[in-house]
Amino acid sequence: MRDFEGRTTVVTGGGSGIGEELAWRFAREGMQIVVADIDAGEAGRVRNALQAAGHAAIAVPTDVADAGSVERLAERTEATYGTVELLCNNAGIVPSGRYRPVWEYPVEDWHWALNVNLMGVVHGLRSFVPRMIAHGHSAHIVNTASVAGLISGAGSAVYSATKHAVVRVTEALYASLRDQGAPIGVTVLCPGLTATRIYDSERNRPADLRPQGGPAAETAGLQAIAANLYATARPASNVADQLYDAVCNDRLYQITTESFDDAIRDRAAAILERRNPVFPSLLELAMRDVKH
Ligand code: NAI
Repeated sequence: MRDFEGRTTVVTGGGSGIGEELAWRFAREGMQIVVADIDAGEAGRVRNALQAAGHAAIAVPTDVADAGSVERLAERTEATYGTVELLCNNAGIVPSGRYRPVWEYPVEDWHWALNVNLMGVVHGLRSFVPRMIAHGHSAHIVNTASVAGLISGAGSAVYSATKHAVVRVTEALYASLRDQGAPIGVTVLCPGLTATRIYDSERNRPADLRPQGGPAAETAGLQAIAANLYATARPASNVADQLYDAVCNDRLYQITTESFDDAIRDRAAAILERRNPVFPSLLELAMRDVKH
């Protein structure tokens, strides 16, 4: 897709971080922007800033974990702008306490992460893709996964499992659209470490998914490293620029860094060679990524 002027993009999680920068990137291409976010205040802030800069934008408070809420987002978008040509299923969260053994995560963490990171994408596809196919316009769909969806190991198991699933769903979307000959491109966006508010995801955890005793604290050491990681990580505007290039060039995989390539390659090699893997420390990989 290269024709952006006067067309419409929906960005979930558009109230912060990567989503906010995607909204600005495509607004600058002349697109009408629908900022969808569970945080109505932040969605409104981004809409106001876009409008003040002369762009067409609306904010739609949306919980991507709720199929009805995403369907209402699609209806509101259609009522305002008619058609959608770029759908960015981007909203995502990371439960805190991410360097625990996989069996120690409370079941609430699993439900919250699966509801937002995986089902949020699924709800977006179910509500928007039939409409996009019916309109017949040249269009593009972006699902935000992560490099965590391509590598493996002990750390961040809940989050990573949801992101592996997002990669798989996006590949299925790509294949199904190709099978049908639909003029709709697909990208799975796999950022490395990016300076956003993702480390403060707990701000959006629903009350009914609070584990007994409250969310786990990160270790002090990890908190210090994390604060530093995110202070020095890649700016979200750079991720948005890379994604823009992927949409223009119809690229399925957009990985924002090469820091994780060895880990991706080693995992694939172990599978193909039928040998047990030696997984790298995710924290060390993350720190290497930030230094680049
Ligand atoms: P962020 O925390 O700055 O932004 C996430 C946005 O999603 C927030 O505005 C939040 O209010 C919204 N959100 C949370 N739950 C929601 C829900 N149920 N419904 C609707 N909106 C909801 O974080 P960031 O980094 O911009 O995250 C965007 C995407 O990028 C996520 O899918 C994340 O997993 C992914 N990602 C981020 C990386 C990073 O290092 N920051 C690395 C790889 C992937």
